[in-house]
Amino acid sequence: MKRDDLVVEGLPEHEIPALDGNNAPVHREDVFTDMEVIGEVPADFGGMYVRNGPNSFYQPQWRYHAYDGDGMIHTVMFDQGRVTYRNRWVQTAGLQEEVQAGHALWQGLKEPMRRDRPDAPLKNTANTDVKYHAGRLIAMWYRSGMPYAVDPLTLETLGPADFEGAINKLSAHSRPDPHTGELLWFDYSLTEPYMQYGVIGPDRKLKHQVDIPLPGPRLPHDMAVTEHYTILHDFPLYPDIEAMQAGRYKVKFHADQPTRFAVIPRYGGAETIRWFEAKPCYMLHVVNAWEEQGAEGLEVVMVGTPYRMHKLEDGSIDARKLEKTIHYRQRDFILYEWRFNMSTGQTHERVIDDLLNSEFPIINSDYQGRKNRYSFNILFPYGGKEEPRFPGLVKHDLETGGFVAYSGGHQFFYNEPGFAPRDGAKSEDDGYLVTIAWTPKEQRSEIHIFDARAGRMADGPVARVVLPRRVPNGFHATFVTRQVMDRWQ
Ligand SMILES: [Fe+2]
Repeated sequence: MKRDDLVVEGLPEHEIPALDGNNAPVHREDVFTDMEVIGEVPADFGGMYVRNGPNSFYQPQWRYHAYDGDGMIHTVMFDQGRVTYRNRWVQTAGLQEEVQAGHALWQGLKEPMRRDRPDAPLKNTANTDVKYHAGRLIAMWYRSGMPYAVDPLTLETLGPADFEGAINKLSAHSRPDPHTGELLWFDYSLTEPYMQYGVIGPDRKLKHQVDIPLPGPRLPHDMAVTEHYTILHDFPLYPDIEAMQAGRYKVKFHADQPTRFAVIPRYGGAETIRWFEAKPCYMLHVVNAWEEQGAEGLEVVMVGTPYRMHKLEDGSIDARKLEKTIHYRQRDFILYEWRFNMSTGQTHERVIDDLLNSEFPIINSDYQGRKNRYSFNILFPYGGKEEPRFPGLVKHDLETGGFVAYSGGHQFFYNEPGFAPRDGAKSEDDGYLVTIAWTPKEQRSEIHIFDARAGRMADGPVARVVLPRRVPNGFHATFVTRQVMDRWQ
């Protein structure tokens, strides 16, 4: 069976520059200090920017897909104005097997899966997401796999994060709750149970686990967490079961079916799930979720960046356009809010912003699960095929729908940022936005630091730290404050 990430049957294979330019892997694990700084690195924040991404250990000899590379963690430590960069591969079981063999044993998403390895038909690269939980970095894979624990200071892989054997896989975008020290996780699968949800305590022990009843396999990418509830996603875009049984992998958007969201108390059983219906759509990433007491009772609010839904001339949803957009990994997103009323069972939804095309949202993580106002996103050009150039950053105001954006034109292409609160921060946006930028003109990577307050982001970076070698384009990032790290080190 040949499969792609989200293949739509009938569409041609397309070649993408997955190994060109700044998508090419780097071959060294390094530590850099005392780097050239343009501007001045603020001394009033501390902690670590962490970013995961694909970086093939062995030169791929197959039709390479941008998601195939082995996970590599890059960190940038900030300490009173001093900056230290570090990078290391995540030593997954698959990569270690390959190193033992001296060559690649798995190919990628565009090639047949390994039939001789039902336990690992694809290599779990742990290359997608990284979060900090109970003193360790947890590297995660978007297709659900064993997460890996990584030492935050040395980036040494400590081993599978199986939480004393309690779990064998979870999905990227499982979320730590900084208020409780818990890790809330979900997992999805093509076979039953199609989705699971659970809670790991700050003691790294499994605290809760439940199967989420679904009518078939689904393709959730993220989850949302409030103080008391978790929201799990059932979008009407999912694999065709009949095609799957016939040995083909095909994903279809069912425009005639609603989106469904499972709102479950944090430690609730399957019987406590409240299902809320919403307009058909598909979304990768959640901005945040929280609880709000409204005139009609408690509302669970979720904000995210779904794909823009295009209409046909007759006013119906253009399902094929959405399928193609996803297939070609084109960027076409809006900022959106859902409100689930726990008294009436009704969903209210609204567009927050559909002027800009932005995704990869991050927030000040102190506000994870609490009502917040700002989402910091990457700005994209429209169209293209697997467009790797992300030329701007935007600060969205969720209350007003307004925004402040920065782009240096085509001189800087950005990665997902992290939000670093200023020491003694007085407001949600009192801090810095930290990210890694690629400069195509100089062919180098730089660490950029923006003042995130009010409109200051539009002034551009307050400091640029020039890295001695490039950092390939990657996926997800997080910022771990010095205060959080001090609790565990
Ligand atoms: Fe993601």
